Amino acid sequence: MMKRTHTCGELRKSHVGKEVVLNGWVNTVRLHGQVIFIDLRDRYGKTQVTINSETFSGNFENAKKLSMEDVLSIRGNVELRETSNPKITTGDIELAVIDLELLNESAPLPFVLTDRGNAEENLRLKYRYLELRMEELQQNILVRHKAYQATRQFLSNHDFVEVETPVLMKSTPEGARDYLVPSRVHNEKFYALPQSPQIYKQILMISCFDRYFQIVKCFRDEDLRADRQPEFTQIDLEMSFVDEEDIFKKFGGMTRHIFKEVLGVDLPNPFPRMTWKDALNTYGSDKPDLRYEMKLLDIKPFTDQSEFNAFKSVEMVKGLVVNDGVKYSRKIIDKFTDFVKTHKAKGLAWMKAENGGLTGGISKFFSADLQKEMCSSLHIKDNSILFLIGDEKMIARKAMGALRVEIANREQLADKKEFKPLWVTDFPMFEVDNDTEKLTFLHHPFTSPATTHAEEMDSNPEKLKARAYDLTMNGYEIAGGSIRIHRPEIQKKVFSLLGMNDEEAKEKFGFFLEALKYGTPPHGGIAFGFDRIVMLLAGTENIRDVIAFPKTTSASALMENAPSGVSQEQLDELGIQIKKYKD
Ligand code: AMO
Repeated sequence: MMKRTHTCGELRKSHVGKEVVLNGWVNTVRLHGQVIFIDLRDRYGKTQVTINSETFSGNFENAKKLSMEDVLSIRGNVELRETSNPKITTGDIELAVIDLELLNESAPLPFVLTDRGNAEENLRLKYRYLELRMEELQQNILVRHKAYQATRQFLSNHDFVEVETPVLMKSTPEGARDYLVPSRVHNEKFYALPQSPQIYKQILMISCFDRYFQIVKCFRDEDLRADRQPEFTQIDLEMSFVDEEDIFKKFGGMTRHIFKEVLGVDLPNPFPRMTWKDALNTYGSDKPDLRYEMKLLDIKPFTDQSEFNAFKSVEMVKGLVVNDGVKYSRKIIDKFTDFVKTHKAKGLAWMKAENGGLTGGISKFFSADLQKEMCSSLHIKDNSILFLIGDEKMIARKAMGALRVEIANREQLADKKEFKPLWVTDFPMFEVDNDTEKLTFLHHPFTSPATTHAEEMDSNPEKLKARAYDLTMNGYEIAGGSIRIHRPEIQKKVFSLLGMNDEEAKEKFGFFLEALKYGTPPHGGIAFGFDRIVMLLAGTENIRDVIAFPKTTSASALMENAPSGVSQEQLDELGIQIKKYKD
């Protein structure tokens, strides 16, 4: 093989006159009379090469048969191009081929590699190795690489120790379903894959490591969305002798460092904060996108004065004003109505603003004076539309919050180049599970409540606040964490509030309750969704775009075809019999 002297992104005017060797793939090939034009590509760029039948030493007829994605080694002279191509870094030159070696031929391609949008995602995932050759994905993977390096650099410089924790572990609840791994040696017993290394990192604090980090795979068997994968990566972090302020300062700093190193972007210092309650009230979301305004309004005081009786008995009426929304046709409003119904709202009321008053929709139930008062005190400008949802508090807020995002997407209100971080604080400790009516944790059961007085915890656990926080950015939750419980009796208390009796707590967490007894330092931490940060850095809204080998939304790996059946011998060894209860 003729080994390369340069990469396909390297040659410039200064190389003109030199003889060089390039190795790479055929990106495009064109025949123009007696000249073949090839764009030769590798990770570093593209170079135009020309095979002229008069100067080429090899077989020109064979060269004509070259096709896309063949791998070549090319020896040639660097020449100045007649008209340079400013779109590529090597656009000033071209390579006049003397000699060519076909290193490997490519089979006909299942899709054209220059245009991702042209092929179905499932087809692209099946041939992921080909899709990964595309510039966009190459860039994303490089952005991811830079983000790893920036993270490690920052954390190592701040005394964090990188520690690996087990992947085969005991099943411990973090809110999602576990992936289980059967044990061959211990029949009828299972390991679980970590939903996160939560307990291990807390134990590392007990073991006096003081500052821990790990860039780690986590596994959760849950419903997948555009920003969720069944296996995903966290930057997992824990510190001893800290409170919330230390966490905000340190990991705000880490986030700023990553954005600066990877994108050259300066994020604000410090990041703004908002309580969970304010976020829900103002934006209808605990991860509000602050790149656009459109705050939710409380309309109940006005609807109560109207003749619109449907809203009289509801707990809350939330409003959303969309400037220029007067343009929305009945059909579009119907679409929005269907949309809010998928978020549990019963319907979507509306009125349009014109001539200082309100018209259409439910406006006839509002007197002219009331309409005027609403327009002036809620700052509703002419030509806008007011949407209203009346319901239980959480439904009204969340459904309107979802509509806010839907409309912002439709109107392209968010600037893709802008990044708006926000710490969300003061989460409730528990929420009532609608199905079981039992208390469940909002974060995880190791989160410290804001009070550790047993009486206060007993008297009204639903009102308890947690020392938990999330970092959100542009509508994504990019990190979540908390100050932890470090006293065994409080940990036991929280388990019991969650409905776990002593025996259950001992069975599931005995080892941890035992560890907490031996001088546990106060500690706290956080975990960043690494894939989500890379999504933001790469400017994509699809988590699969930043993972080399992602799974589909039904958790399948299409390239290697996983999950798949296993042999009867394997099942026998594990003592497992398949119960055929699904078609
Ligand atoms: P949490 O469950 O909030 O906290 O997870 C931390 C962050 O991980 C990301 N994330 C995901 N990313 C992609 N796909 C998923 N399925 C997925 N699930 C979560 C989110 C989230 O903010 N042990 C605690 C952290 C702690 O308390 O320190 C934990 O795992 O960005």
